[in-house]
Amino acid sequence: MLSEVLRTVSIVSGISVFLAGLLTLAEKFLLNYGTCRININNARQIEVKGGNSLLRSLMQSDIFIPSACGGRGSCGLCKVKVLEGGGMVLPTEIPYLTEEELKGNIRLSCQVKVREDIAIEIPEELFNIREYTATVEKIIDLTHDIKTLYLKFNDGDELSFKAGQYVQIKVPRYGKVRDEVYRAYSIASSPRNRKEIQLIIRRVPQGICTTYIFDYLKEGDKIVLNGAYGEFYLRDTDREIVCIAGGSGLAPIKSILHQMHEEGINRKATFFFGCVSKRDLYYVDEMKVFESLIPNFRFIPALSGPKEEDNWTGETGLITEVVDRYITDGSNMEAYLCGSPGMIDACIRVLRSKGMPEDRIYYDKF
Ligand SMILES: Cc1cc2nc3c(=O)[nH]c(=O)nc-3n(C[C@H](O)[C@H](O)[C@H](O)COP(=O)(O)OP(=O)(O)OC[C@H]3O[C@@H](n4cnc5c(N)ncnc54)[C@H](O)[C@@H]3O)c2cc1C
Ligand code: FES
Repeated sequence: MLSEVLRTVSIVSGISVFLAGLLTLAEKFLLNYGTCRININNARQIEVKGGNSLLRSLMQSDIFIPSACGGRGSCGLCKVKVLEGGGMVLPTEIPYLTEEELKGNIRLSCQVKVREDIAIEIPEELFNIREYTATVEKIIDLTHDIKTLYLKFNDGDELSFKAGQYVQIKVPRYGKVRDEVYRAYSIASSPRNRKEIQLIIRRVPQGICTTYIFDYLKEGDKIVLNGAYGEFYLRDTDREIVCIAGGSGLAPIKSILHQMHEEGINRKATFFFGCVSKRDLYYVDEMKVFESLIPNFRFIPALSGPKEEDNWTGETGLITEVVDRYITDGSNMEAYLCGSPGMIDACIRVLRSKGMPEDRIYYDKF
């Protein structure tokens, strides 16, 4: 009985995948939508070849919408208001749109196809986002699966960004990867240095971008990126700060620490950094330097599974357990979280249980 159900499910899935593939091919090679016009904010109009996604069409006209997943419909960041011509809302968009957004004609631009003239509204600040070319000055191994890239913008270009924001790397075609893709990476360096940036990147097995970075990219290569994006930046208040990160989530927190030091922000701040064992820990010395430079800053690394040979005498346990031990009353604090979705959701639960209001918990889920 079970095997019959499984067989039926796999046949239905196979047919669906086949039909979806057929539709995509038909769309690409057989259908011709001609030239379509995109009216933006009722103020400017661009002409594009019909048939591509709204996200890609805008990008080809140098208008960059945040898109951390590279258009696969899995990050929910590429929202724009479509006033006319976007077609029906697709099932792939629904999980990322609230009732209010649906009523307000907000759509995922990577899912909307430009098949006719279309009218959209986007925030004016997106017009300031542009593409940059940078040279890879240095690549340093931080752990067995994390590297830092030192990028210097070409032609004296400068990227202006807020500490905590991210850029999108354009991954060129390589090996068996046939399409260019974009992936988001938080800037780890000081916002004062606009000529160069550092990115901290963790390898994802079989990941398109991280395989390119770990196995193909070399010092001296050129890299194309756009930005800066994001709402994850230090709010200008007097509240005590709690930062929590895991893995490469340290990147935007490091940038925020540079900002705190350079602007003399002396608010009480604690950075909880969760790793499995000592081989996953990095930038401990840099964090000690920040402790000496920022008067009320404290760095608390914690290992969830220290090995015997680690001889670890610091905090142990899941980062949520450590935060739970340290914070008693979070009602007058604000938090900046960066890491996997599971870690962030668990941390939000702990912080909420300590009385921290949800609207003071800022995060970037990787
Ligand atoms: C705002 C933002 C900022 C980010 N900043 C950073 C950063 O500073 N440093 C950094 O290393 N990453 C960062 N990321 C994640 C990054 O954008 C990529 O998603 C990640 O590097 C994987 O890309 P990839 O092309 O190698 O893998 P993909 O080809 O996209 O994925 C391959 C497979 O791995 C799965 N997968 C994707 N990501 C992960 C993951 N993190 N863990 C486990 N499985 C995964 C996918 O579902 C897929 O099945 C950020 C993401 C966002 C949204
Ligand atoms: S680009 Fe990620 S959902 Fe559209």
